[in-house]
Amino acid sequence: MSTRLENLAAPEPDGSAAGIWPTTAQRLPSGELAIGGVSTARLAREFGTPLYVVDEEDMRRRARAWKEAMDQAFADLAGGNAFYAGKAFLCGAVARWMADEGLFIDTCSEAELRTALAVGIPGERIGLHGNNKSRAEIELALDAAVAHLVVDSLAELAQVEAIAAERGTTAKVMLRVTTGVHAGGHEYIATAHEDQKFGLSIASGAARRAIEETLAADHLRLIGLHSHIGSQILSREAFTTAARAVLALRATAVRELGCAIPEIDFGGGYAVRYTVLDDVPPAVFDYAEALAATVRADAAATGIPAPLVSVEPGRSIAAPAGITLYTVGTIKSVALENGTRRYVSVDGGMSDNIRPALYGADYTATLASRVPAADGVRTRVVGKHCESGDIVVHDVSLSADLGPGDLVAVPVTGAYGRSMASNYNLLPRPGVVAVRDGEARWVLRPESISDLLELDVEASGA
Ligand SMILES: Cc1ncc(COP(=O)(O)O)c(C=O)c1O
Repeated sequence: MSTRLENLAAPEPDGSAAGIWPTTAQRLPSGELAIGGVSTARLAREFGTPLYVVDEEDMRRRARAWKEAMDQAFADLAGGNAFYAGKAFLCGAVARWMADEGLFIDTCSEAELRTALAVGIPGERIGLHGNNKSRAEIELALDAAVAHLVVDSLAELAQVEAIAAERGTTAKVMLRVTTGVHAGGHEYIATAHEDQKFGLSIASGAARRAIEETLAADHLRLIGLHSHIGSQILSREAFTTAARAVLALRATAVRELGCAIPEIDFGGGYAVRYTVLDDVPPAVFDYAEALAATVRADAAATGIPAPLVSVEPGRSIAAPAGITLYTVGTIKSVALENGTRRYVSVDGGMSDNIRPALYGADYTATLASRVPAADGVRTRVVGKHCESGDIVVHDVSLSADLGPGDLVAVPVTGAYGRSMASNYNLLPRPGVVAVRDGEARWVLRPESISDLLELDVEASGA
């Protein structure tokens, strides 16, 4: 007998990201938290902590939900696709799972592109992004004949044309346009307003000029337009407002330049819940249907055939499928004006999850290795780094009897945890274990201290 985890807001049947624990999370009779049928005590024993754990079945299910939502919502139009945004978390196994579930892979660096290619994903199922792509990245994308290169600026357009000409090939180009829609929980992750580094502004005319230059170029094929308006967006209206602006640009170009723009990619940014106090985001199908309704209305109003539409969810697939396991170390309590706060230090921190320090992001935590034997007390979970902002969870109630050696699990760390990890204070980056049906295996090995020392010219004795 086991019980579902307390606080588990069950994921919606359609795969919306309402839950904050992976679908398979449960409490075993021993009181231990288990994921994918594997107890966290066993994970800590076999793999050590800190440890990222990804629930393979949960991640696949969320990917499937996007694939099905896009298929269904755009069935009466020109079709819909989902690209998994690899920046959320990419390794070979994840690329394979996403491909198995019918998703394309969105990459934004040479190593992300090579990871997808290395596990046999064909170029035509991969996209490449980036506001400052290297020559090597562009060359690799052209050689792999990727589905599209998302071009971010006029300068890059010229560069891609030149490299494609040298190689005697044609680049399939999407133009990243900015709509002026500013959405997302934090200024640094809202990317479609004017005063930022990404994209070709519709308002300034740069987007229109890029369309004209692409059409005039000998080695560029204009596949479509791309818009990404930010991250952690709850509002469907933000997406549909941006979609209308992109569709209007497309309609003007089709009418005035006589071109076809067969595709639009509306990017990522679909929200998840990090704690049970967060708003429940729209279901995946509702996001897809809101976009489809906008595209449908545009086709009816303009008489221009609907485009093939894609989206690029990252967080909504990866975040809730992953947890981080930590071991508790030192503990202290401080007196505050309104009571006390207990500081519980764990063996990781801002180097494995920068989001609390970077964005003030909120997480929650649970005692994973046993049943609490006391009432909860107000706790801040902190890391082991030399920064007072090194916070893992700002405020959570955890058992008063928590002690060194206990395991603490933090949910919703599957996206932008490992992918944004650093070696601050020379901590090796933790590995990622995939769990499924009672089995656990490394999908990304951890770094070791020797790995770090080897890079050091003098410390390695080189
Ligand atoms: C162009 C682009 N597509 C997709 C994503 C994925 O966003 P999310 O993980 O919030 O869905 C991002 C994130 O920054 C992005 O920049």
